[in-house]
Amino acid sequence: MNYDFESKISRKNTGSAKWELMYKCYDKVCDDIVPLSVADMEFHTPPCIVEGLKNFLDDGILGYTMAYDSYLEIVKNWFKEQHDYNIEKEWIVQSPGVVDGFIAGLKAVCKEGEGVIIFKPIYPPMIAAIENNNFKEVNVPLLNHNERYEIDFDTLEKVAKDPNNKALLFCSPHNPVGRVWSKEELERVGKICLENDIKIICDEIWMDLIRPGNEHHIFASLSKELQNIIITCTAPSKSFNIAGLKNSNIIIANEELREALRDELIKMHLNSINVLGYKACEYAYTEGLPWLKELLQVIDENFKLCEEVFSKLNLPYSKAEGTYVFWVDFRPLGMDEETLHKFLYEKAGIFTNPGKNFGPEGEGYERFNVALPTKILKEHLDRLVSEIEKL
Ligand SMILES: Cc1ncc(COP(=O)(O)O)c(C=O)c1O
Repeated sequence: MNYDFESKISRKNTGSAKWELMYKCYDKVCDDIVPLSVADMEFHTPPCIVEGLKNFLDDGILGYTMAYDSYLEIVKNWFKEQHDYNIEKEWIVQSPGVVDGFIAGLKAVCKEGEGVIIFKPIYPPMIAAIENNNFKEVNVPLLNHNERYEIDFDTLEKVAKDPNNKALLFCSPHNPVGRVWSKEELERVGKICLENDIKIICDEIWMDLIRPGNEHHIFASLSKELQNIIITCTAPSKSFNIAGLKNSNIIIANEELREALRDELIKMHLNSINVLGYKACEYAYTEGLPWLKELLQVIDENFKLCEEVFSKLNLPYSKAEGTYVFWVDFRPLGMDEETLHKFLYEKAGIFTNPGKNFGPEGEGYERFNVALPTKILKEHLDRLVSEIEKL
């Protein structure tokens, strides 16, 4: 390995959302415990980004910034080279986060009371975005075939026919179950949406974090017709551990949709982003690939470790195909939610995301963030195993 994916970093008292939430859950946490929850990494941000930002800061110019031509060219090239998707520079709209982007997308295509289809269990801010903006949630739960999650196409087809339903808020790859949707699955979803005039707001923030043996397809790249109805929400934040810099690239080929989304961002005054976010994305997409490739090896190793441990424990899990989150069913332990969390926090020192936050389908599950040094993940899993064995 050319990069450091082994050193322990301590984020205690740094304002890290993940660490602060851990202390909120249980304040008597020992110093060797690392939270396995919020999706950022326990690794340093790639050196090319840190060094690039340092050099940039030496110039000392931090005024208002808007997307510049070379920036747009770099983003365009990333899509071409990494995802075989040809975009135009003018299709890119900036928003601080992917969540802001998909909320603006929903507002661009739906009025209050209109239906938004989602597939639970799903990333909680998607559920909140629908509720907080007074859209109607239309849940089509994923089908769980022995922890292999699949789309319920029959129900999707049924609800898509309701003219009140206007949008699908889609997560690809899927957080929390880690599915990387196949081309066939995407085409089937796309066909149903095209036939029923449903717009697709596609959150592809995990697009670069694909496990070996799987292939991610940018949904909008599949056909011109699909591209015309899709808002693709992307960011370099998950891939390069720069979530705190708040910069995302929303890609929309359809001019009318693009302007509608831009108007929504302007109304919320979210159309201007952090200058360091632009620079970090630029360094990531031009120099960050070697780091990303090594990261993917570490994540794969960590997924394998989780699979081995949870198989031995007889706790069912979804075999992740992408992302760096691992979804485990703790129901076989027979504990209610409160007992389980007391056990995980106080006995095992494990701070994961409770599955129920991802919808009722997630009750009894936990989501593990595996973006941390393998040795530390192993220590945490060993502790969990030994506490479970004592039960
Ligand atoms: C599916 C998904 N979308 C969006 C985000 C966060 O996006 P942002 O921080 O850019 O708003 C996350 C973070 O975990 C995520 O998993």
